[in-house]
Amino acid sequence: MAAGLAGRHFVEGGSMSVLIKGGRIVTAADDYVGDVFVEGERISLIGESLEMEADRVIEASGKYLLPGCVDPHTHLDMPFGGTTTIDDVESGQTSAAFGGTTCHVDFVIQPQGQTFAAALDEWKAKADGKQVIDMGYHMAVTDLREGGTLEELASLPDQGVTSYKLFMAYKGALMVDDETLFRTMEVAAETGALVMVHAENGDAIDVLVKKALAEGHTEPHWHALTRPPETEGEATNRAIQLARVAGAPLYVVHVSCAESVEPIALAREKGWDVWGETCTQYFFVDYTFLERPNFEGAKFVYTPPPRDKANQDVLWNAVRTDVLSAVSTDHCAFLWDGQKSLGRDDFSKIPNGGPGLENRLHMLHEFGVRQGRITLNRMVELLATNPAKLFGLYPRKGTIAVGSDADLVVFDPNRTHTISASTHHSKVDYNLYEGTEVTGTPEVVLLRGNVLVEGDRLVAEPGTGQFVQRARFGEQLAPTRAAATA
Ligand code: URP
Ligand code: ZN
Ligand code: ZN
Repeated sequence: MAAGLAGRHFVEGGSMSVLIKGGRIVTAADDYVGDVFVEGERISLIGESLEMEADRVIEASGKYLLPGCVDPHTHLDMPFGGTTTIDDVESGQTSAAFGGTTCHVDFVIQPQGQTFAAALDEWKAKADGKQVIDMGYHMAVTDLREGGTLEELASLPDQGVTSYKLFMAYKGALMVDDETLFRTMEVAAETGALVMVHAENGDAIDVLVKKALAEGHTEPHWHALTRPPETEGEATNRAIQLARVAGAPLYVVHVSCAESVEPIALAREKGWDVWGETCTQYFFVDYTFLERPNFEGAKFVYTPPPRDKANQDVLWNAVRTDVLSAVSTDHCAFLWDGQKSLGRDDFSKIPNGGPGLENRLHMLHEFGVRQGRITLNRMVELLATNPAKLFGLYPRKGTIAVGSDADLVVFDPNRTHTISASTHHSKVDYNLYEGTEVTGTPEVVLLRGNVLVEGDRLVAEPGTGQFVQRARFGEQLAPTRAAATA
């Protein structure tokens, strides 16, 4: 890596300057070679052959300069399935930083009977002092009867929490009924929040799970057999139709199969306010992984489950044609040895979730861009620009522009990297893509002008990241620091 110190150029407030020279600057729309000058936390100039002095000069010729990726779907330090996800804010965000992700939006889960304010306070306390990258929160609504009120829900966008999440599955745990779903959609229509749904028919799945267990089926692959794609398609369609009635914008998370791609495609063709995401794992892991012997299949127990391989082409086609507009990780990591093992004798007790925060860019670059399925611009759009736009972070995040936060990834498109649990930075004891060799990996990662990662080294201290107050759906976040609070 040719990165070194040059002359000093202190800017107002005593903060530092960084000059990144000769990188191939790739945004959702552009692709050109240039220099980027960062003063303090923001990009202040982009040009050709910039000669100003800077505290730090990073030589990026032959490298891509990408906007820091934005992951709109993660679960850090979350109680779920009788245990708590193994990555807390510090380990999860460290892992994200090594993978070129500089901002994510995590889910606050409203505990039954509690107010949204109490839930948000609890989640903020878990992150306090540990943040490596920037983050925002979605509010997962679980209870509008005993806990949060509609008025309180309506107040969340004023606090920068501008998306409501509803689980249409996980009966007896996070699942809401249609009344709660619809009332939340009505509030969103009023407040300008985006409604996110986990779309599966939880009632039907509950019947199928009980039946399978009664027949003595306990192995991990029964997780998929009891959650057929039609249950995802039905719930996706129901959510789309209800959002239409309520007049709320809708975002369907972790789309895994043709049955839910199709109603989203139709809705978008009709010009309705419907968007969808898929997650990295659905392109690569199929149903057969669940059948691996000796309980190894449990590593792939996440929801919706890995599907038949034919769906992978459907998903690549959907992200290429903007039927699906974002790729997230749904990082929800549980140890195979000690947490997944809670369900050794009963697949329904295996905590649902898989890891992936560190490898989204690796995998999309290798199998999307290098193998000709999507363009480099589209990759940036799926991993950074669209998540930032949909979740009220744009144009501070998700692009490389004057005035935007200097969240930047110097990406070496020629360096090879072997993905492995033995080298990743998550605390989880396995990797969904173990042994996969990719060409192209982040080399230097910056957050608001601070170098977070350099090669194999984490440079930033926990505490560098901030909570970001997001703008309402369809509104833009002003490209200033005014909206950010520590
Ligand atoms: O299995 C998963 N996806 N776990 C995380 C919770 C969710 O449904 O997103
Ligand atoms: Zn989900
Ligand atoms: Zn999730």
